[in-house]
Amino acid sequence: MRSVKVKNYDEMSMEAAMIVFDKIVHSNRLVLGLATGSTPEKMYEYLSDMLNKNKVDLSHVTTVNLDEYVGLSPEDAQSYTHYMRRIFFDKVNIPLENTNVPNGVAEDLEAETKRFDEGIEKLGGVDLQILGIGRNAHIAFNEPGTSFDSNTHVVNLTESTIRDNARFFHSMEDVPTQAISLGLNTIMNAKEILLMASGNNKRQALLDSFHGEVTEDVPGSVLQRHHNVTVLTDIDGFN
Ligand code: PGA
Repeated sequence: MRSVKVKNYDEMSMEAAMIVFDKIVHSNRLVLGLATGSTPEKMYEYLSDMLNKNKVDLSHVTTVNLDEYVGLSPEDAQSYTHYMRRIFFDKVNIPLENTNVPNGVAEDLEAETKRFDEGIEKLGGVDLQILGIGRNAHIAFNEPGTSFDSNTHVVNLTESTIRDNARFFHSMEDVPTQAISLGLNTIMNAKEILLMASGNNKRQALLDSFHGEVTEDVPGSVLQRHHNVTVLTDIDGFN
């Protein structure tokens, strides 16, 4: 693991945007794994600006998102599909057919998880995966206890994740209780991983993930087994 210490959230976002921008302009073909949540918001802003200023065409880029809430359609403003369109896809020159987010309203959720994994495999895997981390060290929606061998699956969200995500909804009751999430094995298959963590509320998760025991109780700790992870963080005392 390589860690890069940044001053604050803004610098972390700019650094990440530059890394992704660089990958995009120096590849003939790129499969980009994308994350949602508050952490990458500013990165998408910077990245969109860079891409637009340089008139970068993204037809060689395919995106694959980490997760989606079960029960929320792409038209739902709280869905991750909607988030991605609002914050990135609609702002840049990427064909929508090159973007992939799990379908949270698929009639057969199991079939949807299989379809998603097969899609990633057909693409030849993810080249660069962007990740955030939850306060309980979840990555994507892989909560503590998730098997390191997991592929894309339907997840029951934990109390703590529902509470953390309630800020995006009108009330706790509106937060979906399930999601479709790439599995830990799926994420580990990415060729390169860029994890962003900002703020002291992520400190313990980061320490446990990278300096603690590798255990399924700490989903982020699986990343210690990956050979190409960069952590961008403003958290003191982590390197
Ligand atoms: P956050 O979530 O970026 O909204 O803090 C990160 C995560 O849960 O992976």
